[in-house]
Amino acid sequence: MTKYYDYAASTPVSDEVLTAMKPWEQQSFANPSASHQAAVDATDAIKSAREKIADEIGAMPSEIVFTSGASESNNLAIKGIAFKHLDKKGHIITSSIEHKCILNTCYFLETLGFDITYIAPDSDGVVDRISVKNAIKENTILISIHHINNELGTVQPIGEYGAIAFENNIPFHTDAAQSFCKVEIDVDDMDIDMLSLSGHKIYGPKGIGALYIRDARDSDIVPLIHGGGQELGLRGGTSPTPLIVGLGCAVETFPCEKSEQHKIFDELMTEFDFDRNGGEHLLSTTWNITFSSDAEVKRFFSEHDWLVSQGSACNAMTNIPSHVLTTIGLDESEARRTYRISLPPFKGSLS
Ligand SMILES: Cc1ncc(COP(=O)(O)O)c(C=O)c1O
Repeated sequence: MTKYYDYAASTPVSDEVLTAMKPWEQQSFANPSASHQAAVDATDAIKSAREKIADEIGAMPSEIVFTSGASESNNLAIKGIAFKHLDKKGHIITSSIEHKCILNTCYFLETLGFDITYIAPDSDGVVDRISVKNAIKENTILISIHHINNELGTVQPIGEYGAIAFENNIPFHTDAAQSFCKVEIDVDDMDIDMLSLSGHKIYGPKGIGALYIRDARDSDIVPLIHGGGQELGLRGGTSPTPLIVGLGCAVETFPCEKSEQHKIFDELMTEFDFDRNGGEHLLSTTWNITFSSDAEVKRFFSEHDWLVSQGSACNAMTNIPSHVLTTIGLDESEARRTYRISLPPFKGSLS
């Protein structure tokens, strides 16, 4: 039987989320920006979702800006800061193993004259805090480093980057698409100024995410989508009530315990010969493994009809070894024997 083990790429919408969204699709479909009662009801539903998301990361509801997903949130965070400095440009610090939506945003900013430092991780995929500290320049305008790596499952010490950024009065952004709800996040304790999250990684719908922005109202982040003043003027467009309600419900109902499936999986994996990549601090539901030989790959897939990912879903289209795997030192042959198997996420899913 075919089994889906690619939950890091996307999760199914849970029954609770689907049920919560449904009334807002057909019965209560009013534009929340209108002034009648139906709009007030939609606005209230959005407010409640905003509170749940803010609560999850120790933020204020007024600091949550809804977007279409983590890609857009990452674009808004990085370009939103960069565009404030279009006159003098400036320097941005990131890592070389970010998701492509961050790397491509940075490559684009380079064409506009921004200076970007891409810090390489160690062989475990960890971005060292000292390298971040040493990369700071007088004109550094942003540090953006992800929380959990989507390919490896490696947990980065974001509180340490946040502290360095805070000491140097530089805003710190983190892409938490792979960590939100799964591990504890407190934006104050971790000195996070902006945080990106996505609905479809936590049993919510696709096409919705959010960017946490510290003191969003006073942040003077430059919007990417100018519109009718929605989301504090930071993201125009009619608010998608069903998607927002779905995201709020996904946060509220995110599972707290691992399923029986995880135990079976752990036992089963002892039967195969592979190395698990990504060091010691890992998300327990993301396994990035390099099989010892092509024969072992063949044996594995002849016994298991599993939908897994080679690299991340976004790299699958290019058929070239993922930038993350080559950066942590895998050669081409090892990278081709490497797969990401990802299980249903749950709260506290650390190894
Ligand atoms: C770390 C990371 N950042 C960003 C994204 C993009 O998220 P979305 O699909 O919500 O745009 C993903 C999803 O693949 C991801 O894993």
